Amino acid sequence: MAEAQAQQRGGYAEDVSAERLAEIGLRLEVDGEIATITLDRPEKRNAQTFATWSALARIGETLPEQVRVVVVKGEGPSFSAGIDLRMFTSEGVPGQGSFSSAAASEGADLEQLISQAQAGFLWLRRPEIVSVAAVQGHAIGAGFQLALACDLRIVADDVAFCMKEPALGLVPDLTGTKPLVELVGLAKAIDICLTARTVHADEAMRIGLAEQVVVRGDLEQTVHDKVAQLLSTNRDAAVATKRLLQGARARTLEEQSAAERLEQAARIRALFP
Ligand code: CAA
Repeated sequence: MAEAQAQQRGGYAEDVSAERLAEIGLRLEVDGEIATITLDRPEKRNAQTFATWSALARIGETLPEQVRVVVVKGEGPSFSAGIDLRMFTSEGVPGQGSFSSAAASEGADLEQLISQAQAGFLWLRRPEIVSVAAVQGHAIGAGFQLALACDLRIVADDVAFCMKEPALGLVPDLTGTKPLVELVGLAKAIDICLTARTVHADEAMRIGLAEQVVVRGDLEQTVHDKVAQLLSTNRDAAVATKRLLQGARARTLEEQSAAERLEQAARIRALFP
């Protein structure tokens, strides 16, 4: 784990070249206002490592300004089987250490490392973008949390969400607990996490984990259509509206009304200078 920190300081976190991303098992395509991030290690079911999370964070930091929609998807049968299980072995992931080496590090260092990993997930909520997860097959642990980090989840009918962490002695720490509770409520979140059971498509739709369920073969087209809809609205209004919606839960009705007035006044002034 100390090795991972050293590597991050030493450079791999800085590099989002196609070659480096391919080594990590990621692809990034930017086409005008749309960025597509693909987890691309299908032979290992898109298992994620610290390098994955560093690269995701760096993609967020360097995202071209014109991008309005970010699609996150996985190549192959599974969206993502979660953290690379080599992290649980004494050898770990080459160059990135293991949980046992992490356990030996100082408390603050370990939290710092987790914070770096979380940075790969946090930026997907930025008001300037809308993030859409296209989820097929398994979305386990870190895979489930990556889908939860996105604003919208469009899923295939074979989707299988599972918050496996508590079964492995861990907690979900990749920013997934808050959106999970907000989407499904506390009782259902406790049920899902503390049993580590699988949530299939019908239930995901019913409890609000998924916006849309489609047959597997239609996933790409459905996401494409949703992206087109998202791009059809005014960009600045979309950013301001997302900001308003994101803040709504934490504000009183009066505070939210005031926030609406503020945003609208800015919109009207921009539209009628
Ligand atoms: N890490 C590393 N390798 C993995 C992996 C993982 N998480 N998941 C699958 N693989 C590898 C398998 O070892 C296998 O490799 P080989 O071909 O070299 O043997 C390959 O991917 C294909 O796996 P399966 O044959 O098992 O594929 P499947 O389609 O039959 O099953 C699966 C898919 C249900 C996802 C199954 O692979 C599985 O259960 N994987 C483990 C899931 C898991 O426990 N993840 C940890 C989640 S907790 C978490 O993520 C914690 C955190 O953030 C802190």
